[in-house]
Amino acid sequence: MILVTGGAGYIGSHCVMALLDKGFEVVIFDNLSTGHIETVETLKKYGNVHFIQGDLQNIKDIQNLFNQYSVDAVIHFAAFSQVGESVKNPQKYYMNNVGGTLNLLSAMLENDVKYIVFSSTAATYGEPEYIPIDENHPQNPINPYGQTKLMIEKIMDDYDKAYGLKSVRLRYFNVAGADSLSRVGEWHDPETHLIPNILKSTFGEDKVFKLFGTDYPTNDGTCIRDYINVEDLAQAHLLALNYLQNGGKTNFFNLGTNDGNSNKEVFAACEKVTGKNIPLEICPRREGDPASLVAENTKAKTTLGWNPKNNLEDSIQKAYAWEKVLNERLINV
Ligand SMILES: NC(=O)c1ccc[n+]([C@@H]2O[C@H](COP(=O)([O-])OP(=O)(O)OC[C@H]3O[C@@H](n4cnc5c(N)ncnc54)[C@H](O)[C@@H]3O)[C@@H](O)[C@H]2O)c1
Repeated sequence: MILVTGGAGYIGSHCVMALLDKGFEVVIFDNLSTGHIETVETLKKYGNVHFIQGDLQNIKDIQNLFNQYSVDAVIHFAAFSQVGESVKNPQKYYMNNVGGTLNLLSAMLENDVKYIVFSSTAATYGEPEYIPIDENHPQNPINPYGQTKLMIEKIMDDYDKAYGLKSVRLRYFNVAGADSLSRVGEWHDPETHLIPNILKSTFGEDKVFKLFGTDYPTNDGTCIRDYINVEDLAQAHLLALNYLQNGGKTNFFNLGTNDGNSNKEVFAACEKVTGKNIPLEICPRREGDPASLVAENTKAKTTLGWNPKNNLEDSIQKAYAWEKVLNERLINV
């Protein structure tokens, strides 16, 4: 039995789908703060899925889960992840992300569960000193969100040394796309990510896409990011689980594509995929956006045998198909 915290959310639900495809039995633990019960209901149609609605900040909730189920390993997605909000309300982030993870790790130790795969982030690197960013790049987060993830990485190192708890920390770059069959997809409110926001501008006449900053030191003046497909990302979690269960040591990997796309390129690709002229408003830079973030991903490929398959256009196509499903669903509520 694999415990997936945050399995009702965007990335967690794709990982659950990938686990079900491989025949795993899964228990999802989620407080539905940003996740959706409809997502859990969908996942239940595709395999052996149990659901516990609970909050990691309440240690009894997670202890109850471990009392009820025999968990072999944990994949831990549950967290708050909006950078701007973390600057305004750091307490919310430290309590949930760090406090919640400490409770989860306590329950794992009590129940002798030794393996955890954790959602870390490129935000732990902070302002890049060189591009592409490899795993040896210094970790100097520039916002509380990134700090929470780095703290958890360090806590996991200490828990390995003291208690033998083995972790794999996956540092995601910009996650994009949706399930190939549009069964699950990105569903955030508010949505802060570039691709769904561009695509949402194609639904409804008054929606204009705002592009922040055209004076960065890049080819076309807009920010460059590394977009990694969510199904490829989910596969990396299965490989990380397999790595740990076969005796792999505590480790950390970048999950990206080794390639970056500017905001203007992403916008053009969205217009191509949708076949629509998307209304665009050029706005000044936002504070704290580095010009370029691109991952060096060789370590995950060589150590885990990871092989991401989808390019940017694939991700946009799948995200667009999902946006249509979501738009219908929200209209019909
Ligand atoms: N989306 C990205 O591009 C990206 C990039 C880097 C890292 N990450 C990390 O990946 C993980 C998943 O991100 P996502 O985009 O799927 O987010 P999401 O908000 O869609 O999913 C998070 C899930 O965790 C649940 N949750 C939050 N706090 C909880 C708590 N205390 N107890 C129980 N459940 C709780 C939410 O209800 C939600 O279902 C997060 O840890 C995030 O920091 C995401």
